[in-house]
Amino acid sequence: MSSDIIPFSRAWSAPHELDYLREALAGGQTAGDAAFTQRCHRWLEQRIGCHRAFLTPSCTAALEMAALLLRIQPGDEVIVPSFTFVSTASAFALFGARLVFADITPDTLTLDMAQVERLITPRTKAVIFVAYAGITPDPAPMAAMCQERGVAFVEDAAHALMAKFNGRPVGSFGCMATLSFHESKNFSCGEGGALLVNDPSLTARAEILREKGTNRAAHLRREIAKYSWVDLGSSYLSSDLCAAALLAQLEDAEAIQSRRLQLWNQYHARLSAWAATQGIALPTVPEGCEHPGHLFYVIFKTNAQRESAIAWLDQAGIKAYFHYLPLHLSDAGSRLGSAVMGCPVTESVSERLLRLPLYPSLTEDQQSRIIERLVQLPAV
Ligand SMILES: Cc1ncc(COP(=O)(O)O)c(C=O)c1O
Repeated sequence: MSSDIIPFSRAWSAPHELDYLREALAGGQTAGDAAFTQRCHRWLEQRIGCHRAFLTPSCTAALEMAALLLRIQPGDEVIVPSFTFVSTASAFALFGARLVFADITPDTLTLDMAQVERLITPRTKAVIFVAYAGITPDPAPMAAMCQERGVAFVEDAAHALMAKFNGRPVGSFGCMATLSFHESKNFSCGEGGALLVNDPSLTARAEILREKGTNRAAHLRREIAKYSWVDLGSSYLSSDLCAAALLAQLEDAEAIQSRRLQLWNQYHARLSAWAATQGIALPTVPEGCEHPGHLFYVIFKTNAQRESAIAWLDQAGIKAYFHYLPLHLSDAGSRLGSAVMGCPVTESVSERLLRLPLYPSLTEDQQSRIIERLVQLPAV
């Protein structure tokens, strides 16, 4: 067996990335909203069918923009899954929201709609939905329920660019959605993100918030002679250098996706029999969901088995990782919110889930090494 290290994650370098970076540098316009940023915006708008897309420095920044657009303030409640990345929650707590942590369902690890319905109160401003691993049940019923109850439905689609349900892109169900282009994601520019605005009534203010609270965008379109400070805001633009690298990746989407899905399907097919005999769960993809092959996980029966698998793979040079720790049990999460109905699925899954290496440059041999090592895991 080879002793080479197999890293958990590796950023992809798309064929035109360096050419586009050179072009951006040579053009002398590297700040936000220059030519490559505009091309990324159009690509995202066409793929998702959203009203407007805005590149941001990160998904965290896009979530903060969403909080500002919803005018989140102290006294508001925001429902978030406890099983998610910190930013899904912290972006709203930053503006004073009380976090209401909801549990996930054991099949797709996404928000439990029955619990969300019962958690909505007159103070609820928004529900933030995360398509974990880009795998989701139909988001439409939750979006409709939120609309009926007068609550904003926002998609944190950090894992889910290219995912669809019944042919409709994930990211198009909420009034807004956020994306991540962090190194670990399917498409990356090191650090990056996007805010997708589906509700056209939010667009004008989004343009102002990202330009430090000024109406500079209207000025650049020659709608007003001078621009000035008109609202709250911050610097939520992404450099055109990041956009240049990102555009090359977006244009390589079909190749990236087909490689990722090939690896994902291979894991599923080759681990199924072993998982069934060991009582280990593999991801469940609901009918109607097209997922983007973002990450592959296994859920062991016990935490001890998961921990021994991490050590067993590590001894063979294979880096595999757990994922989210329950936010409602964290120091900050328990101060800034609560899980009034409990989150037993989150607590249990968090202790037993393991993510395996999955990225386009993972070779067939490396993947075979991972699978063969895993299925030989000694009983605990
Ligand atoms: C569900 C989710 N939301 C938000 C983020 C934050 O993304 P970023 O690092 O681009 O701010 C992550 C990061 O991995 C994430 O997994």
